[in-house]
Amino acid sequence: MRIKTCSLEDTKKLAKAFYLSIPDDGLFVTLTGDIGAGKTQFIRYVLEFLKVDKKVTSPSFVILNEYKTPKFPVYHFDLYRLEEKGLKSIVSELREYSKTGYLTFIEWAEFAYDEIPADSLRIYVEYDENNLDIRWFEFLSDEKSNRNFFEKFEKEVKNL
Ligand SMILES: Nc1ncnc2c1ncn2[C@@H]1O[C@H](COP(=O)(O)OP(=O)(O)OP(=O)(O)O)[C@@H](O)[C@H]1O
Ligand SMILES: [Mg+2]
Repeated sequence: MRIKTCSLEDTKKLAKAFYLSIPDDGLFVTLTGDIGAGKTQFIRYVLEFLKVDKKVTSPSFVILNEYKTPKFPVYHFDLYRLEEKGLKSIVSELREYSKTGYLTFIEWAEFAYDEIPADSLRIYVEYDENNLDIRWFEFLSDEKSNRNFFEKFEKEVKNL
């Protein structure tokens, strides 16, 4: 599914549709896209709907932010600034975070490609070439996984 947002407001609405579609046992989500494309912004809005009151910052310098929510713990990784050594150690732990019962977001997951579970939900974020207010969010998954999520999400997106 590829969805265009024309403003922050639109991205917030998309994040709400996403939030409403998260299964009770969580999701494992990777986010890929250029610097400043809107990965953290999208996560920030999702966490707002999940009632996280802590300020959501980019975890670039700490690698991992953890948030408590009434539903499940949320883990937010950013692999961009990890040196190769650090990357190896953290990446070997990533699968731990794909267990059910967690909501896990991984920005710059392409740096950990081999360790990303095949059944993860993948979000690709892109700028529009002609208008910087416009961003494209694409949601992908292998066919068998995340069915509950996509069924709900398709309905929610229609209601945007
Ligand atoms: N439609 C839109 N959706 C999301 N963000 C938008 C939109 N229009 C403009 N923006 C701006 O784009 C920027 C997105 O920054 P953000 O930190 O989310 O990017 P990122 O993909 O996480 O980058 P990085 O790779 O550095 O982590 C924000 O400053 C935001 O205000
Ligand atoms: Mg970011």
